[in-house]
Amino acid sequence: MAGRLEGKVAFITGAGSVGSGWGNGRATAVRFAQEGAKVFATDINLTRLDETLHLAGEFRKNIQVGILDVTQSGSIEESIQSCIKGFGTLDILVNIVGGSAKGGPIEMTEEVWDAQVDFNLKSVFMTCKYALPEMIRKESGSIINLASTSGIRWTGSAQIAYAATKAGVIQFSRVLAVQYAKQNIRVNTVVPGQLHTPMVETRLAKQRVGGDVELLLQQRQARIPLPFMGDGRDTANAALFLASDESRFITGTEIIVDGGMSARCD
Ligand SMILES: NC(=O)c1ccc[n+]([C@@H]2O[C@H](COP(=O)([O-])OP(=O)(O)OC[C@H]3O[C@@H](n4cnc5c(N)ncnc54)[C@H](O)[C@@H]3O)[C@@H](O)[C@H]2O)c1
Repeated sequence: MAGRLEGKVAFITGAGSVGSGWGNGRATAVRFAQEGAKVFATDINLTRLDETLHLAGEFRKNIQVGILDVTQSGSIEESIQSCIKGFGTLDILVNIVGGSAKGGPIEMTEEVWDAQVDFNLKSVFMTCKYALPEMIRKESGSIINLASTSGIRWTGSAQIAYAATKAGVIQFSRVLAVQYAKQNIRVNTVVPGQLHTPMVETRLAKQRVGGDVELLLQQRQARIPLPFMGDGRDTANAALFLASDESRFITGTEIIVDGGMSARCD
C-alpha cells in the first residue's frame, strides 16, 4: 500500500531532538519518511540528526540531512534550495524549531526577548519566504508551523516572549493561509501542550524546578485530563494529517495536541 505522503518532498527544521528519544522534529521526520515522503531533515546539530537517522531504521533511505541554524537568515534560502535541487521540488514545510525562556517583562532582558522573537517567530517568516515560491510555482503545498498551548493559555509559568511569539505563529499561519489559498497552498498550526519530550530532562527541569525532573513531570501531568503524557510522536501524527491530502480542505486553523489541557478551567 502506498504511504500517505508518497511522492511528496518535506523540508523540516529542528529534525533532531535535544536529548535521546522522541522530540517533535525527530518524530515528524521519521513518521514522514515511514509514510513515503522524501525528507530534507535540517538541524543545527549533526549528532542529533544522526540519531534521527538511526531511529528511522529502514526508512532512513528517505531522509537527507542538512545543517541549518534557523536564526541565520542567510543560510535558510541556501538550505531550501539544496532540498529543491536534491529532491526536485518542495511540497511540505514543517517549522519545528522553537523553545521558551522564563520570565515576564521585568525579569527578561531585552536581548533574550529579541532572541526569542528570532528563534520562535522570525525563523518561521524566513523559511516561508524561501519555500513559498516553489509552492506557488506548482500551485500546491502544505505548511505546518509549531506553536504551543502557551500561545493560547497561561500554562503554569511566565514566559512572556514564548507565549507572545507562539501566539504570533498561530496568527501568522492564518493570514498566510488566506493569502495563498487560491494557489492551493494550505497553512496550519500544530499546537502541542505539555509533552514529555527529551527537552523536559535536558532543559526545562533546570529552567523551572531546580533540576527536579519528577516534580516537573508531576506538575505537568496534573494539568492534563488524559491519564498520560504525549510525546513528539503525537505531534508528528497531527502534522502527518495536515501534510497529507487527507486534509485537503483544511487550512488556516490549528490542531491542539494537549490531552485536553486547554479545554479545562479549574
Ligand atoms: N516539548 C514540548 O513539550 C513542547 C510543547 C509545546 C510546544 N513545543 C514546541 O515544539 C517545538 C520543538 O520542541 P522540542 O522540545 O521537540 O524540540 P527540541 O528542544 O528537542 O529541539 C529540536 C531540535 O531543534 C534543534 N535546534 C535548536 N536550535 C536550533 C536552531 N537555531 N536552528 C536549527 N535547529 C535548532 C535542536 O538541536 C534539536 O535537535 C518547539 O517549537 C517548541 O516550542 C514543544
